[in-house]
Amino acid sequence: MSRTKVAILGCGFISDIHMESYERFVPDAEVVAVYSRDIKKAKAFADKHHIKNSYDSMDAIIHESGCEVVDICLPNFLHAQATIKAAKAKKHIIIEKPLAVTLEEADEMIKVCAEENVKLMYAEELCFAPKYERVRSLVKEGAIGDIYMLKQAEKHSGPHSDWFYDVNLAGGGVLMDMGCHAFGWFFWMLNNAKVKNVMATMNTVLHKGRTKGEDNSVVIVEFENGAIGIAENSWARHGGMDDHCEVYGTDGLMYADLFRGNAALAYSRKGFGYAMEKADTTTGWTFPIFEEAFNQGYPHELKHFIDCVRNNKQPLVTGELGRKVLEVIYAAYASAGQGKKIELPFAPVVKKPVDLWLK
Ligand SMILES: NC(=O)c1ccc[n+]([C@@H]2O[C@H](COP(=O)([O-])OP(=O)(O)OC[C@H]3O[C@@H](n4cnc5c(N)ncnc54)[C@H](O)[C@@H]3O)[C@@H](O)[C@H]2O)c1
Repeated sequence: MSRTKVAILGCGFISDIHMESYERFVPDAEVVAVYSRDIKKAKAFADKHHIKNSYDSMDAIIHESGCEVVDICLPNFLHAQATIKAAKAKKHIIIEKPLAVTLEEADEMIKVCAEENVKLMYAEELCFAPKYERVRSLVKEGAIGDIYMLKQAEKHSGPHSDWFYDVNLAGGGVLMDMGCHAFGWFFWMLNNAKVKNVMATMNTVLHKGRTKGEDNSVVIVEFENGAIGIAENSWARHGGMDDHCEVYGTDGLMYADLFRGNAALAYSRKGFGYAMEKADTTTGWTFPIFEEAFNQGYPHELKHFIDCVRNNKQPLVTGELGRKVLEVIYAAYASAGQGKKIELPFAPVVKKPVDLWLK
C-alpha cells in the first residue's frame, strides 16, 4: 500500500513540528507539498524537509498536488476557509486548534465535511501526550476514584508571530490560543461530560501595547456530572513554556508536567543554544527539554489521523470536540465581560469570541 499523501498549509512554527513528527514517526505518510503565501518561504521549507512541491496558491496545492489529506497549520482566521476549500475537493482535513474563530464557521466546517464524506480531525495533541495519557489510563483503571476536579495550565510569555496579538485574526488572546487545550482535555478526561456553566476572569498584563486581547485568564467550568475544571492560561508568564495538569479523585490525585517533567536540569554560566519553547535565556538554572514534539503528543496524534484515513476509522478527536471547546471559550469571554456565570448552551452571534469580553 502506498503512503498517504499529505499537503501542509503554512510553514511556520507548528508546521515544523508536524514535519518532524511525520518524518520521524509516521512512515505511512508522505508530505508531498507545502503552501505559503510567499513562494520563497514555501521553497525554503520544502528544501529543509525534502518536500517535492511548493505552492503559493491554496487552490493549487489542494487541487494539483495529488494530496489525500490537507494539514492546516495556518492562523486561526484561515481555518474555516481552508477547511471548506479542501473538503469540497474531497480531501480529509487535519486542522490545528482552535477549530475556528466563530461557532458559525465551526458549524459550517462540520457540515461541509460531513456532506463531502471527509474526516475533520481536530489536532488537540494533549489527547495524545504520553504523560497525560498515562494519567488518563490510570484514572480509567480506577486508581484515584471518581474525578471531582481537573486543573490544566498552559503558560508562556507570549507567542512568536504578530497575528496572534491581532484579535481580528486570532479571535481573542490567550484563551483562544491556549485555553482551547484545557477545555479539549477536560472533555477528553471526562468522557465528553456536558458543561453546565462557565465562570472566568481575565486581564491584559504584559502585552497591553500589542494586543486588545487578554494575556492572562482563569476559567472555571462546572460539568453536569459534578466535576469542575479549572483552566489557567497566560502569555504573561516568564521562564519558558509551562504545561501541567492536576487530577483530583475521590481516592487519590495525580500530577503531570509536560515541560519541566520531561527535561534535564542545567546550570550554565555561559548559556547554550536551546532549552525549551519560549525560554528567553539559557544561563543560570534551566530545564533543557528532550523529545519536545514527542512528549507533547504530536507524532501520536498525526499517526492516529493517518491511520484513520488509511483504514477508514473514526478519529478520536473531531470537529465536534473543537466546536464544544469554542462554545466554552465564548462563555468564558462572556462571563469575564458580565461578571457572572454563563449557562450552556451559549451561542450568541459575534464577529469574534473576544468581543463578548471587550464590549
Ligand atoms: N497545537 C498546538 O499546541 C499549536 C502550537 C502552535 C500553533 N498552533 C496553531 O497552528 C496554527 C499556526 O500557528 P503557528 O504557530 O504555526 O503560526 P506561525 O505564525 O508560526 O505560522 C503561520 C503560517 O501561516 C502563514 N500565514 C500567515 N498569515 C497568512 C495569510 N494571511 N494567508 C496565508 N498564510 C498566512 C505564515 O506565513 C506561516 O507560514 C494556529 O492556528 C495556531 O493556533 C497550535
